[in-house]
Amino acid sequence: MHNTGVSVSNTEGSWLHSWLAKCGDLMELRASHRMMDAVIDEIDGRRIRIGDHWLSDFASCNYLGFDLEPEIMDSISRYVRRWGTHPSWSRLLGSPVLYEQIEERLLCLLGAEDTLVLPTITLIHNSVIPVLAGDGTVFLDGRAHKTIYDGVMIAASHGATVKRFRHNDFEHLAELLRESQTTPRLICMDGVNSMTGNTPHLPSFARLAREYDALLYVDDAHGFGIIGERSPFELCDWGSRGNSIINYYGESYDNIILVGGFSKAYSSLLAFLALPTSIKNLLKVAAPPYLYSGPSPVASLATVLAGFKVNEQRGDAIRKNLHRKTAAILDCLRHLDVYTPNETGFPVIEIQLAEPDRIKEVGHYLFDRGIYVTMAAYPLVPRHEVGFRIQVTAANSDAEIEQLIEVLHEVSQRFPLRQASGSRVKRRSQGHVLKVV
Ligand SMILES: Cc1ncc(COP(=O)(O)O)c(C=O)c1O
Repeated sequence: MHNTGVSVSNTEGSWLHSWLAKCGDLMELRASHRMMDAVIDEIDGRRIRIGDHWLSDFASCNYLGFDLEPEIMDSISRYVRRWGTHPSWSRLLGSPVLYEQIEERLLCLLGAEDTLVLPTITLIHNSVIPVLAGDGTVFLDGRAHKTIYDGVMIAASHGATVKRFRHNDFEHLAELLRESQTTPRLICMDGVNSMTGNTPHLPSFARLAREYDALLYVDDAHGFGIIGERSPFELCDWGSRGNSIINYYGESYDNIILVGGFSKAYSSLLAFLALPTSIKNLLKVAAPPYLYSGPSPVASLATVLAGFKVNEQRGDAIRKNLHRKTAAILDCLRHLDVYTPNETGFPVIEIQLAEPDRIKEVGHYLFDRGIYVTMAAYPLVPRHEVGFRIQVTAANSDAEIEQLIEVLHEVSQRFPLRQASGSRVKRRSQGHVLKVV
């Protein structure tokens, strides 16, 4: 057993020492940087106060601004008065009818055979991937989100074989599927990528899953609420209704399990699977979070239900507004010749430094100029991708967008950012192009 009482100065050769060495860059950044592990003292719209410093927040994933929607905030007390703050049964012991209502609403929105909600996507990956993989083979995208990777590693510890295919490379996946003899076969990958904002070409992966009798397991944590079914009446090229990547591509759910979450676009602690009823019933007795985990707080169930209503009534208009704000930032980057892998206009904009060692300086500059972003430090990202990520939400005011654009001009003059022209990345290989805005 690890000796967790050991002091940090006395760790040479120990497990703790090797972890500290592995995470050295990130630990140093965390300890020295105000934009990491920060305590937020107060918020005012999308402005946040850290100590005596007010900043515009471009680091939250509350894409639709539902965390600040009066109609959604006001819904909570009614539900809490009726259900208390926390049901505290695991779902197998008893689910308030609110869960049934959420699953039904999801069903209508997604058009899947069935849905199952559990507290978080992380819990879903850790518990569901091992069940679906059994002692078969998991085909894992080479750059799948860490939470998917961890779920797959748990599956491996239960006897599954893991094969990794190059990021977004369905031809490589086809080769691996051709060579594989064992069943079941599970393909695990992201929908909208959390760093680039790009999507994989889902129809190609779905076709392979059907051809090789595999199950395609897609985590669309970021896409849900933003991209959706295409329609001649859509207000922007993300599609309509925010009903996720499967609908965005007009795919059926045959051989596909979709995982999504409410913790980003819907600002609530809850997650879901869209899946066949037979698998739902299996998971009710085989997935530990359904059997044993504490449930989501009633406040979150309430905000999900109220969020569905706002999405139905005003969601497309909110997305159109968010699309416009994001496009303004992407236009600015194009004008500055600053590289971003974002090819979709999605409200996640990654900017990479030409000199990764200057990450701290860049972070301090942004902070001093009142801009709060997500720092993408090594080892969270490979060294050549070190930089920062801007997340835009519908609740960011136009004035905040203008402030960000002004600061991006300054940053591009003071620091060497990776340029769009002469980029080392083959842009089209990163994912499907929706439209370059
Ligand atoms: C792609 C992806 N999957 C899963 C998660 C974790 O989701 P949850 O908070 O529901 O566990 C995140 C959060 O960053 C994510 O970006």
